[in-house]
Amino acid sequence: MNGLQILGTGRALPAHRVTNDDLAQRVDTNHEWIVARTGIHERRFAQGETLTQLTVQAARQALERAGLTVADIGLCITATVTPDYLTPSQACLIHQELGLPEDCPAFDLSAGCTGFLYAMETAAAMLPRMSRPYALLVGGELLSRIVDMDDRSTCILFGDGAGAAVVKTDPEAPWFCHLGTRGRQEVLWALGPGNHPAYLHMDGQEVFQFALETVPALARQLLDKAGLDKDQVDWYVPHQANHRIVASVAKRLKVPLEKFYENIASYGNTSAGTIPIALDEMVEQGLLKDGQWVMCLGFGAGLTWGGALFRWKSMEER
Ligand code: UT7
Repeated sequence: MNGLQILGTGRALPAHRVTNDDLAQRVDTNHEWIVARTGIHERRFAQGETLTQLTVQAARQALERAGLTVADIGLCITATVTPDYLTPSQACLIHQELGLPEDCPAFDLSAGCTGFLYAMETAAAMLPRMSRPYALLVGGELLSRIVDMDDRSTCILFGDGAGAAVVKTDPEAPWFCHLGTRGRQEVLWALGPGNHPAYLHMDGQEVFQFALETVPALARQLLDKAGLDKDQVDWYVPHQANHRIVASVAKRLKVPLEKFYENIASYGNTSAGTIPIALDEMVEQGLLKDGQWVMCLGFGAGLTWGGALFRWKSMEER
């Protein structure tokens, strides 16, 4: 199957910062507990911004960095569980705002925090059949919409934000991907519209154990597929759910923690947003260099998990 090359990335975060001390004024918690148990110092909550505004801002930046225009895009996928409308999809709202071409299909994909990995693999499969070789992939959430601000076990974890990537299908690009699902509604769920608040409910410890069971095995599976050793991977880009999960995964894989990119301290868990936001920050900081191996690893509601292992190509080499 053709691989994907990431040509440009973007991100957008709401302006409003919510510190741990802010949350401690509402629920029985404190900064020390949150930092020790999660690594989170603050998160962003939208105050008036819509998901459309954030995702469009991230998408515009990704297009600009890719040196492409909307007329080049042949596919648009958004990974989210908190779209602005039930219908049309968030991807259609982005399509409208950006003025994407009519022969560019646009749709949403719901795979919880693994959504961006599902979007990448879907694009890898679909793009060779599209009229143009470029896709706009967006992952973003306004989780503050569905977080119960009186539940201290969840309100401290989640945040709002969006990331985007413009990708190109490439038969030469090494691309190793694995996606998994274990249908388990009762571990992490939120009801749709109705008489009940659509709050997020989570068995935190079960998600924690699930992550430690699946993510190291997923990383090994990808390394096997690629015929690489763990030390040949230059960057691991994990879903940002909990620093302790990242540290345990690194320990189990016997990979130095410094090879795992982390930004959970600033944003908390933005679900489908974490991986594209992280990639965009890494680009901006000059961390991703031509020829480097990058492994993205995600897990979340579903339960779902997914990983992608690919080679970074710098703009100059394209
Ligand atoms: O993207 C995927 C989405 N979700 C995740 O990845 C979540 C994965 N799970 C986690 O990150 C962790 O399980 C949590 C951060 C949610 C919780 O950490 P924990 O170390 O598993 O804590 P716990 O649930 O075992 O709770 C320990 C104690 C409990 O008190 P008791 O029963 O020991 O007296 C909780 O009531 O900590 C209490 N607690 C809190 N205390 C202060 C729970 N939340 C808080 C809080 N502040 N915010």
